[in-house]
Amino acid sequence: MEYQTIKTEREEAAFIITLNRPDKLNALSPELTGEVVDALNNVRTDETVRAIIITGGPKVFAAGADLSKMQTANSIEMYNRNLSGDMWTTVAEMPQPTIAAVAGYALGGGCELAMACDLRLASQSAKFGQPEINVGIYPGAGGTQRLSRLIGLGRAKELVFLGGQIGAEEAQRLGLVNKVVPDENLLDEAKAWAKKLASKPPFTLRLVKQVMDQGYDLDLQSALKLERLGFIGLFGTEDQREGVTAFLEKRKPNYTGR
Ligand code: COA
Repeated sequence: MEYQTIKTEREEAAFIITLNRPDKLNALSPELTGEVVDALNNVRTDETVRAIIITGGPKVFAAGADLSKMQTANSIEMYNRNLSGDMWTTVAEMPQPTIAAVAGYALGGGCELAMACDLRLASQSAKFGQPEINVGIYPGAGGTQRLSRLIGLGRAKELVFLGGQIGAEEAQRLGLVNKVVPDENLLDEAKAWAKKLASKPPFTLRLVKQVMDQGYDLDLQSALKLERLGFIGLFGTEDQREGVTAFLEKRKPNYTGR
């Protein structure tokens, strides 16, 4: 499929998606979200892809859902848009670890896209917010749930109710982003994180992602049982043996994902 609104590239073990509607501040049109879902579905089972970077380029991450596609949309149409898979859930459920590399505005659905990723890097220019309330709606792609899980209900309500914006440093202080880097280093830093992730045992990484995500919504005892079962399962993998053996032999492990 030839994409009109995103660019995709492979760099070593990293798969990079760049949102590409610069004249509309990467507003998330149904076409764009459909292309992201398609691109992700193409690499979901590709074991050579060990990390995924989602970025909007050096100027803007995404200024939210495309409001021009919402003016006349009715409930049935909004329902139908989700039938082919919604982008935010697809991102969150990718087996590979995902990194959002955010420069400029990450508003509304853009902030929600960053939050659907596992890790968030922001450049100093980044601005986060959930301004939906200002246009008569509320966040509908994770903003009412993922934001409070990341920064707490009180601060999340402040952003969602008041519809304001926060800068990169404040976002980091609140726990919304993992790290803030100078604008010019953003993509290199994301690639460096992807490289680190690619050096880890891939199956173990996929399993721990699932255990942490699913366990987070369970009661503690159930979550601990889920963790324990997955942990026991790891002892049937070659990578577990390789990791421990390499340590004892004082050499670098050679992980195969088996
Ligand atoms: N949907 C559709 N188009 C959008 C958009 C969105 N969410 N955000 C920006 N654009 C478009 C603008 O309409 C404009 O297009 P035009 O040049 O054809 O008129 C272009 O992107 C540039 O935006 P502009 O508003 O001129 O830039 P700015 O620097 O003055 O302001 C923002 C930037 C992000 C503050 C402002 O664009 C904005 O508030 N966007 C909407 C954010 C929002 O409410 N998102 C949640 C949607 S549910």
